[in-house]
Amino acid sequence: MAEEKLFPHKHILGISQLAPAEIELILQTAESFKEISQRSIKKVPTLRGRTVINLFFEPSTRTRLSFEIAAKRMSADTFNMASSGSSTAKGETLVDTARNLAAMNPDCIIIRHSHSGSPGLLARHIKASVINAGDGAHEHPSQALLDLMTVREHKGAIAGLKVAIIGDITHSRVAHSNIIGFSKMGAEVRVAGPSTLLPPGIAAMGARVCPTVREAVRDADVVMALRIQRERQLDPLLPSLREYAIFYGITREIMESARPDAILMHPGPINRGVELDPNLADGPRSVILDQVTNGVAVRMALLYLIMGGE
Ligand code: CP
Repeated sequence: MAEEKLFPHKHILGISQLAPAEIELILQTAESFKEISQRSIKKVPTLRGRTVINLFFEPSTRTRLSFEIAAKRMSADTFNMASSGSSTAKGETLVDTARNLAAMNPDCIIIRHSHSGSPGLLARHIKASVINAGDGAHEHPSQALLDLMTVREHKGAIAGLKVAIIGDITHSRVAHSNIIGFSKMGAEVRVAGPSTLLPPGIAAMGARVCPTVREAVRDADVVMALRIQRERQLDPLLPSLREYAIFYGITREIMESARPDAILMHPGPINRGVELDPNLADGPRSVILDQVTNGVAVRMALLYLIMGGE
């Protein structure tokens, strides 16, 4: 009889594809891998001989580097390609680029692209595993997983928590993956933001839409501020960033409505003074750099689980 796989997915395209038990497995695997990054020699042979390609068509600091660090700490060979240095700049299609990369026989391609659905398109055309590192305004699954890990680390559990997500919900793939992920794991998710940046159907994803930031944050255990995704706004959807900061920015006063032990999160990059008071970003409630640290562990877990490391 064929052995049943511990993790049944070849690709990670979105949190929506994952069952709560699979999210739990990823988090437990990441928690066990976190210790490797604290050693003086931060390397294990688990993925020796595997080839991982980072294919980033949009800027990234945290995601691109942490996937590369994660792969290297597992002894995989990693290669990076950005849109400016690739032949897509000469008119080659994404599928043609992917087929050419696949002809070099990689085991995993990690892709960030401005078009929603690009990772799924790739997954249908190539043999290698595909990980979505952020596709348009659709999903950013590894970000939601590292956010879940960070919350669990600080709060002990996710079920029953009140999570407030504030800002540009429409254009934020982080918000979409987090609404799905936190809801699946039993948290109550509230969202608030300018009405021009709240998409219809958000309640169907599992979130309660609040009329004000204060109402969303009231008694919350977790407050997550989002960046305004101006690169995805075709028309100006806000009068000004100054006005946004006044009505939707997370300030010390707003945080006073949350639980006294509430934590403050942000996926980065932060626009200091717009979505977040700079003092809060660096203050005792901020777990923003813990999110970055956990990003390496979560990405090690994803690479391990989809490439079937020994
Ligand atoms: N959170 C996030 O996706 O950051 P980067 O754009 O720097 O990868």
